[in-house]
Amino acid sequence: MSEAAVHDQPATTGGLLTSRLGSVVALFPLGVWTTWHLWENLSSWGGAEAWEERVSKPGATGASTIVSIVVFLPLILHTAWGLRRIGMMKPNGYKFFGNYKYMLQRLSALGLLGFLLAHVTLARIKPAMSATGYETFEDIAAHMHHHPPTLVVYLLGVLGTAYHLANGVYTASFIYGLAASPRAAKRMQILSLLFFGVLLVFGWGAVAGLFQAGAQFAPPVD
Ligand code: HEM
Repeated sequence: MSEAAVHDQPATTGGLLTSRLGSVVALFPLGVWTTWHLWENLSSWGGAEAWEERVSKPGATGASTIVSIVVFLPLILHTAWGLRRIGMMKPNGYKFFGNYKYMLQRLSALGLLGFLLAHVTLARIKPAMSATGYETFEDIAAHMHHHPPTLVVYLLGVLGTAYHLANGVYTASFIYGLAASPRAAKRMQILSLLFFGVLLVFGWGAVAGLFQAGAQFAPPVD
């Protein structure tokens, strides 16, 4: 069975629309924003001012209300779409490698859901209610350096995100006609692998920048 079949689109017009919409928003704006967000976080290597200006201060593109709406609404839509597809899961009968990736796409989705809930709560909602009103470089860097669970969660969260997005681009390429021949499918597989590597470099690079900067700060109290 082809990779395209893993999308087993519902037959009704309404179902088809929901299905396409959940897929389209995963690529844009979600996929584009996620790539850009990981890239922006590499500014952790530039120190507190650079990171806060680009990532967390009110007015930074990543923290603005308009961006939140443009990102969170599609995320909620895609999550509902994804959970429905997990419920419709039919892994049996596919060749091993494809089947393995199919399962991993769903496993990474559930991991990503847990990670995003924790990440948005701790890096956005909680700091918004603090004295500064935003996540400070000192807070996140100190946690990354002195609190191993934070480091592990971010390393795994980035790994799951990179896999889910890069493999998602590959599976989506079947729907949008970019993998119509075996040769094109192979090309998309290679591109997806390269994209996975780029996302990992951005995300883990950002975590490494926060980790090394955290050495200058005292261990967090909470
Ligand atoms: C930053 C967050 C996320 C991004 C950037 C993202 C991106 C993507 C992309 C690009 C695809 C491929 C779309 C397609 O094949 O048409 C996809 C597929 C999928 N996503 Fe997400 N996703 C995210 C979060 C989630 C969450 C939180 C869930 C649910 C818990 C989820 C569940 C799924 C599922 C189940 C698929 C596979 C659908 C299928 O192959 O039939 N995703 N995602």
